[in-house]
Amino acid sequence: MSKTVSGFSKLTKLEKIDWLVSNFFNNDVKVKQILMQYWNSNPVLQDLHDDFIENTISNFYLPFGIAPNFVINGKDYTIPMAIEESSVVAAASLVAKFWSTRGGFKASVISTKKIGQVHFMFEGTNNEIKNYFTKKKAALLLATKAITQNMQKRGGGIVDIELRDKTVDLANYYQLHVTFETVDSMGANFINSCLEAIANEFEKEDVQIVMSILSNYVPECLVHAEVSCKVDKLYAENSELFAQKFVQAVQIANAETHRAVTHNKGIMNGIDAVVIATGNDFRAIEAGAHAYAAKSGRYKSLTNATIENGIFKFWIEIPLALGTVGGLTKLHPLSKLSLKMLDNPSAKELMEIIAVAGLAQNFAALRALTTTGIQKGHMKMHLTNIIKQLGASAEEKQYLIDYFEHKTITHNAVVEAYNKLIGENG
Ligand code: MEV
Repeated sequence: MSKTVSGFSKLTKLEKIDWLVSNFFNNDVKVKQILMQYWNSNPVLQDLHDDFIENTISNFYLPFGIAPNFVINGKDYTIPMAIEESSVVAAASLVAKFWSTRGGFKASVISTKKIGQVHFMFEGTNNEIKNYFTKKKAALLLATKAITQNMQKRGGGIVDIELRDKTVDLANYYQLHVTFETVDSMGANFINSCLEAIANEFEKEDVQIVMSILSNYVPECLVHAEVSCKVDKLYAENSELFAQKFVQAVQIANAETHRAVTHNKGIMNGIDAVVIATGNDFRAIEAGAHAYAAKSGRYKSLTNATIENGIFKFWIEIPLALGTVGGLTKLHPLSKLSLKMLDNPSAKELMEIIAVAGLAQNFAALRALTTTGIQKGHMKMHLTNIIKQLGASAEEKQYLIDYFEHKTITHNAVVEAYNKLIGENG
């Protein structure tokens, strides 16, 4: 039996669920209950979430945690993080505290330009299209006037429009490469509207517009964040060796793609969590960050570390196109609250905070990897998860945690120890 459907979007939420349950879950009532137990009891809030996307049937929760004790450019922050992975928020908090007693994090925005492109085909000569562009340039800017007016009032707008000859890469392919300043908004809608207006104005019989769209590769929307301290203040025992291994770990990520990807994934654990909590687009951030990591033609670490004259320095440079107005930022009550928690930052300040979250996460990962390994912490969490699944009481839980302090944790070993315990107690 075919499970395709037409007019699905017109069905009510309950009708959509009924369709799903009858077609894919054999009319199991429990499925409907699971979906509905995540509905918000406040209908206004539920309507708000329903309208974020299409065909909404329920909500999918992510834990929302906070990492206190961040000192960035001398200011205290508690950073909101939305993430499902255990240990990330704990790592952020520990590293924040650690660096708060060593001068804190320093961060600065290098540039904030964003890019959009009108991609088109032209079969004539390079000179012909150049002349046409030169003649048209003022009209192209004028065509966006209604859209750019407000942005200009806030200090943004179109910075420049360039004609780029891409015919070496693809026959007849040219583009209008447009640079934007979008101030505190991420600016996706603004950029795309400007590009479409520019494309309309530019189009003529022998200019075939293919598409107009912003680029998520934003190497000129760049932020730097760093920490530094004397090598001997870095680690309790054998600080010099620790610093050396730490730097080597970064060098390995710079030399080897398999390691670089995992290294950068750890950085994105911190970055995405704050990007999501503040209502920004984590797919855009991910795509832009990884492209930047590969800008030399080889995929490398987004962080760097050095030891010079007894000083350990660790830094990140990453493109982050973010907004603190527009999009979901003020629409989602938790994003709004997250921004308030951060003292309603400008987009620039948010770039600094989020770069720091990524740097902190990388510091935690490399510190663990080059010393104790990461499994110690992870297995502790694994143990508590198994104990939870077993339905152990608070006393039984404590007994098992103590019992496994110096033993290897496996699912079987925990179940065995638990069974023995309740056998003895019962
Ligand atoms: C796990 O989510 C992230 C790490 O693998 C990052 C790293 O290896 O640097 C721990």
